[in-house]
Amino acid sequence: MDFHYKDIVPWGRSFDEYLDMFDLSEDDLARDIVGIGDGPASFNFRMYQRGTPIVSVDPIYRFSEAEVCQRIQETYEDVIAQARQNEDKFVWTKFASVDELAEVRMQAMDEFCRDFENGKQQGRYIDASLPNLPFPDQHFDLVLSAHFLFFYSANRDLAFHLDAVRELLRIGSEVRIFPIVDVNSNPSAFLSPIIDALEKDGIACSVERVPYHFQKTGNEMLRLKLC
Ligand SMILES: C[S@@+](CC[C@H](N)C(=O)[O-])C[C@H]1O[C@@H](n2cnc3c(N)ncnc32)[C@H](O)[C@@H]1O
Repeated sequence: MDFHYKDIVPWGRSFDEYLDMFDLSEDDLARDIVGIGDGPASFNFRMYQRGTPIVSVDPIYRFSEAEVCQRIQETYEDVIAQARQNEDKFVWTKFASVDELAEVRMQAMDEFCRDFENGKQQGRYIDASLPNLPFPDQHFDLVLSAHFLFFYSANRDLAFHLDAVRELLRIGSEVRIFPIVDVNSNPSAFLSPIIDALEKDGIACSVERVPYHFQKTGNEMLRLKLC
């Protein structure tokens, strides 16, 4: 059975998962970072706790804490039920079981929920959507985007992906996107045309293996750099 989402769900990963998904070093963490489509992940909260705040962008940030966190609870049963039905699509080393996965993810999203209103007031959570972001050109050093582009290839077309990736490159000199497979671990059909188009624009594109390996085919990120 495949994963089926009518639209993109609010679901968030932990700080440790972000480190591995994007192969982030201590030097990377000291850079000026923006996370696009961060949703209810705990990366922003943990970076704030470390004293190196970052900016996160997501259309769900227009809602109140109560609304977002209720939506997570509503989504929970469906996401976990689909994970159980699709256990064979994952590598169960990082998490021993679906129960452990659920626990880690819910803890991350709980941290987000407790931080959200404070972070919004501090300008750490910005309500905006690709492909139009409210930042000047080259405002950030490092732009991260996880589990949105390529992942939801069934929900957004190639034109959207290309506009979105060009917008990410407009606001920062380096972009990392993870994963490059879709929700069902199939290679995204958009990857090659996007790399071809960006290389014509003079962008350095590389597909790189990362320490994070949960989806069976999902242990690579796309790194893009302005030359
Ligand atoms: C599955 S969540 C991933 C959250 C987080 N990046 C992670 O990996 O745990 C996908 C997120 O993409 C956000 N999203 C949907 N449309 C978007 C858009 N046009 N621009 C930016 N983010 C969007 C959703 O609101 C959702 O929070």
